[in-house]
Amino acid sequence: MPAYDENIEARVDREIAAFLEEEYAAQGEDLYQWYRYKFIAANNKRLTSTIGLAHYDKAIVRFVLQACPFATRFVEIGAGVAQESMLIALHGLPAFGVDTTPAHIEMMKRLRERLAERLDSGLLERMTPVYDWYPNRAEEYVDAGTVLVFPTLSASTTPEQDIKILDMMKLAGGVILSMEHFFRTRTPEQQEALLSEIRSRGFDKPVEVFAWGNGDMGFSANRIVFLKRL
Ligand SMILES: C[S@@+](CC[C@H](N)C(=O)[O-])C[C@H]1O[C@@H](n2cnc3c(N)ncnc32)[C@H](O)[C@@H]1O
Repeated sequence: MPAYDENIEARVDREIAAFLEEEYAAQGEDLYQWYRYKFIAANNKRLTSTIGLAHYDKAIVRFVLQACPFATRFVEIGAGVAQESMLIALHGLPAFGVDTTPAHIEMMKRLRERLAERLDSGLLERMTPVYDWYPNRAEEYVDAGTVLVFPTLSASTTPEQDIKILDMMKLAGGVILSMEHFFRTRTPEQQEALLSEIRSRGFDKPVEVFAWGNGDMGFSANRIVFLKRL
């Protein structure tokens, strides 16, 4: 497994920040509000300059490279422009960025082009944008060497979909998820119930990847955990 490289992190952070600024200049208020309000310094008073990577993006990639020796693939669900997938693929691990919004897949492809041109042309082979509403086609991109990652996403789901979202985790070697924003905002009790549901599908106890308090960099409080498949 390659070692985490802070030089790669710094270059990726700068390139993605410049990319988001350019997308904002071109799209204005049409730029997805997640990026408009959280990453662009002009709209986020907690930032002194625009960021390309959130603190949890860096922490998740560092964790996978350091603590997941089984990993042969990184799959990011609700990836947006797929910052984590780009960062880890630039370290050498194959990555898939999965998103259900066509405009986000287009941005993901533009970002991949830019990073391939400026940092490493091998990115075009190692990072794959996937248009899907997880878990619909999960069998096609999740396997036993996969770290399946849900950084932060919200969606309206039916009870049947909720079961399939969890059942498909069984295909992966490990999962990383945001406890507070896993498909919907969850109370501490709901988070514990979610962990029990995941563990009942054959996963070890959770290990903390990263946590932060309210308002840190403009991101609301959250806790990111890893569970290894037994
Ligand atoms: C808040 S953004 C997060 C972007 C990025 N992961 C980050 O943390 O900066 C959530 C993304 O999840 C996507 N999404 C929501 N439900 C999804 C699903 N079931 N499958 C794939 N993508 C989904 C949305 O289109 C959106 O781009």
